[in-house]
Parts: sequence; structure tokens; C-alpha cells
Amino acid sequence: MKPLNPHSELGAVIPDTLLVNSDPQWIQGLLNQWGVLVFPDQHLTPHSQLEFAQSLGEVRINPYLPAVNADSRISLLHTEPDAQRVIGTTWHSDHSYEAEPPQYTVLSAHQVPPTGGDTQFASTRVNPRIRVKPLKGLRAAHSTGNQTVYHPVIAEHPNTKEPVIYVNPGFVSHFENFTAEESKPRLDSIYKTITKPEYTVKWQPGMTVIWDNAQVLHCATADYPGHTRTMYRTVTGRWRP
Ligand code: SIN
Repeated sequence: MKPLNPHSELGAVIPDTLLVNSDPQWIQGLLNQWGVLVFPDQHLTPHSQLEFAQSLGEVRINPYLPAVNADSRISLLHTEPDAQRVIGTTWHSDHSYEAEPPQYTVLSAHQVPPTGGDTQFASTRVNPRIRVKPLKGLRAAHSTGNQTVYHPVIAEHPNTKEPVIYVNPGFVSHFENFTAEESKPRLDSIYKTITKPEYTVKWQPGMTVIWDNAQVLHCATADYPGHTRTMYRTVTGRWRP
């Protein structure tokens, strides 16, 4: 196993391992430790991706994204060469607008641009740069479409029981009992600390990356005009921040 970034405790590449033959408990243990796991050369089919995602927990549905083979358990993230918009380019945690968001995301690369189209990750584990005391008891509004939920700003990781910061610029609009304007300075100051990319995944076709939404934020990069990028995404598991 190779850490992705030797200066960070986040992210590991797991070579020579087929996800379809792996023990889900082993994978979950590695995710608790590393937050993001990169598995080269998997070439998962929609069926094998679903089967693997099911081994990590309850596969969840995304009603907002197009589906692969009309199955909304696998979302298609497809960017055409002339696309005006790329999905996921603001730092976020998948489905944080749900009362019980999916804990894990399984993302597989099918077609990638010759350069760019990377995914960046950052840890949300509480670190000494973050003053936790003033954030305790605060809840933030997470929304998409007409769905809004309130989650604590300081949450507990469901497996490690370590504190994590659970806000993100993709889906959070304000703190409970504060307006968006009143919330902005404090949210901006939190984002300044937690949206520093700690490393970057450079995709290869056939690669699968799994991450733990309960302890990382991620952000796609829109820097490949004129090229196609096709990814299959499944979200799985359930946690209560
Ligand atoms: C996502 O935001 O879940 C997908 C990230 C990516 O396409 O790199």
C-alpha cells in the first residue's frame, strides 16, 4: 500500500487488488484510516460496481443525476467536449442534504481526458488549526432542490468516533438561527481551513476510487475543454452526522 501523499494522512493507493474479491471489512478498516482509497485497473461493470457497493452498505439513489442503464443506483457523470458545466466542481460531501447521508462513494473512470479532470480531496477531521469550542451546538442547513436538513457542524465519525467538521460550500447555505449573510464570515473562515487540497487523484481508465464522506470533502476539476470524461458513481451506506 502506497500513501498518495507522504505528507498527509489522507489517501492510499492499493495496487494488485481486485475489489470484486476483497473483504469489505478490510476495505472499511482502510477507509477509516486513510479516508480515500485508489484502486487501479479494476474495470468494473455496472453490475460488479453495484455488487461491490452493496458489500459496503445500503446502495442509495440519486434522483438528480442521469442513471447508467436506467438504474438510479449508478449515476452517470459525463462531460462532453463542449460542456458548459461540469458536475461537482465545488467542494462538497456527497448527498449531505439528506438526513442520513451515504457514507461511502465508489467512483469508476470509464473515459478520461489526456490531462486534467482530476479529483481533489481534503480531510474534515478536526485538527489543531480549528477552534472547535465556538462551533459546538451549531447546526448548518444543507440543501439541494427543495430538500433541506440541519446537521451539527461538529459531528462524530460513525466508526472512529473522532470529531469531524460537517459543512461544505456545495450544499450549505447558512447556520440554523442565523441568516445567510450572518453565517457567511464564519462559514468562509471554516472553508479556508478545510478546503485545502491535501492530494489529487489523477484518473486512469478502469480505476476505481472509494472515499468516506464522513471524513473528506472532494471537488472535481473542470480543466479539460474539448475532451470527454465519463465516470460511474455509486453512493452507499448510511450515517447520521
Ligand atoms: C463527485 O462530485 O461526486 C464526482 C467527482 C468527480 O467527478 O471527480
